[in-house]
Amino acid sequence: MADLTIPEGGFWPAPEIPQPNIYPMEWRVETEKLAAIYEKSKRMVWNPADLPWDGLSPDDFTVEQRLGIMYWFAVLANFDASGPAVFARATIQAFEKHEEDPVRKCFFSITRDEMNHEECCQRTIAKLWPGGPLDWTPVTDLEKAAHNNIGWLYHNGGRYWNGYTAAVGKYSLPVLFTSFMMGEMAASTLFRGMASGTRHPVFGEMFQRIGRDESRHLQICMTILENEWPGLTDDVRSLITRQLRAGFVFLSMILWEPPEGFWDLPPYFLANHRVLMDHARTAGLGVLSYEEQAENWRVAMARVRAIVERWGIEFPAIPELDIEGVPVDFIDPEDIIPVF
Ligand SMILES: [Fe+2]
Ligand SMILES: [Fe+2]
Repeated sequence: MADLTIPEGGFWPAPEIPQPNIYPMEWRVETEKLAAIYEKSKRMVWNPADLPWDGLSPDDFTVEQRLGIMYWFAVLANFDASGPAVFARATIQAFEKHEEDPVRKCFFSITRDEMNHEECCQRTIAKLWPGGPLDWTPVTDLEKAAHNNIGWLYHNGGRYWNGYTAAVGKYSLPVLFTSFMMGEMAASTLFRGMASGTRHPVFGEMFQRIGRDESRHLQICMTILENEWPGLTDDVRSLITRQLRAGFVFLSMILWEPPEGFWDLPPYFLANHRVLMDHARTAGLGVLSYEEQAENWRVAMARVRAIVERWGIEFPAIPELDIEGVPVDFIDPEDIIPVF
């Protein structure tokens, strides 16, 4: 064996690596609970391709119902399909900031799950409305209305994306994660409701599995926040109050109906949205009624409120649902953190 080379005067220390940077490598574990959730996420992985797709046939629905289902999944995709990119970016951020290893791994697992949720949108649309959401030519008035609404929806999704890109670098972990937590609370609530309402086995299994994933995401957010919240300052607290209102504005589009004045939509959007949602409803997709949705959303928000108030964070007023709190008047597209 060759001899080691030991320089005179000792080894030269490697230069310090400028931060943020993913180097040097390390695998610190500070929160065992997060490591356990990550292990669980690996054991619970499922494959959207294995859902009983043969049981989903376009012939089971009228044309209007098929269009309604496609429309609902196109709306869902505005949320769930932003998940992979949102959490992939958060994962990179966690590496660069040298968060403990289970934080990085949990973000990665959410990225993985959200890719599955996006695939569910993709597969359903491909089966029921080839070319959807937008790459098809509408003929009837109903089709034109659906196509146009989806175009407007994605225009808004695009506006919110810039805000998120800036937010990842701008906001501290507790601000970002309160928004994430609200998104996961909304998502788990939505899919639990849909799983109980659907009359179709493919959607039943899909919503159940997605709902289970979303509950795990919520658990991840809560565990991270329990570490982060004790150090909050009043400035950050009031920023969080604002972000909770932004979360409501954003998530209402899929959980209920978009509130006035924030989404950039044409005046006919909502009326046509209601017609299309009704077609999805009569198709047996599991879309709850307007009142059931409002009640579900109210319950989810009460849960978020109970959590944040424990840490001295005030809840924003949500007059749309008769929820009292601190008035937050103006939300900018840049304030929206698109997460689900
Ligand atoms: Fe999701
Ligand atoms: Fe999620």
